[in-house]
Amino acid sequence: SGEQVLAGRRVLVTSGPTHEPIDPVRYIANRSSGRQGHAIAAAAARAGAAVTLVSGPVGIPDPPGVGVVRVESAREMLAAVEAALPADIAVFAAAVADWRPEREAGAKKIKKDGAGPAPMPLVENPDILATVARMPTGRPPLVVGFAAETEAVLDHARAKIARKGCDLIVANDVSAEGGVMGGIDNAVHLIGRDGSVESWPRLGKNEVARRLMAHFAGMLAGRYR
Ligand code: C5P
Repeated sequence: SGEQVLAGRRVLVTSGPTHEPIDPVRYIANRSSGRQGHAIAAAAARAGAAVTLVSGPVGIPDPPGVGVVRVESAREMLAAVEAALPADIAVFAAAVADWRPEREAGAKKIKKDGAGPAPMPLVENPDILATVARMPTGRPPLVVGFAAETEAVLDHARAKIARKGCDLIVANDVSAEGGVMGGIDNAVHLIGRDGSVESWPRLGKNEVARRLMAHFAGMLAGRYR
């Protein structure tokens, strides 16, 4: 339907994986199709919002009606997110790589010398969601994180909302049985700051996105916590 529940709002969405270069041909990444994040950006645009999508490398088309900023690494994603603010709603659906090689990738491919791989120290990437959720000024009024878990989904999501400082966590079970990873369906739980849980049935990722827009509009209007 054509309800413009986010008319006049600015929405920022991250989506896809990040690639952390090892050398010009190799990288570290998490698995992510970008489908749910891209569906959220598309749904926000359909709901009347002005949308910026900061996307890591994905193999799916840009959503219609959305400004897309393409990035590779977590640090590039953080810089693009900061440049895209302010926003009324920030949704962090990207599967950001937790670590990157400590050594900056050079211009030359690392050669196999027959002696096995050299040790590759890793360092932690910035947590983009936590950085924005804890901004002292200019924090978006609604900051939403995702939690992809394979077990104890609700417990982990409750811990995550406190650790990250966001307002809402959209949690899903990505264990192999669910077939969510890379698929077109998703079964999500919405976890609030007070620990409240709203569980939705298994739905298409586009329908999850559409329903999320109504939920976000309600939260901004102060209808739920
Ligand atoms: O800590 P974990 O990766 O499980 O948290 C997932 C949530 O945090 C997602 O919303 C993800 O987009 C966000 N995140 C982030 N930057 C990171 C790691 C995770 O924005 N470096």
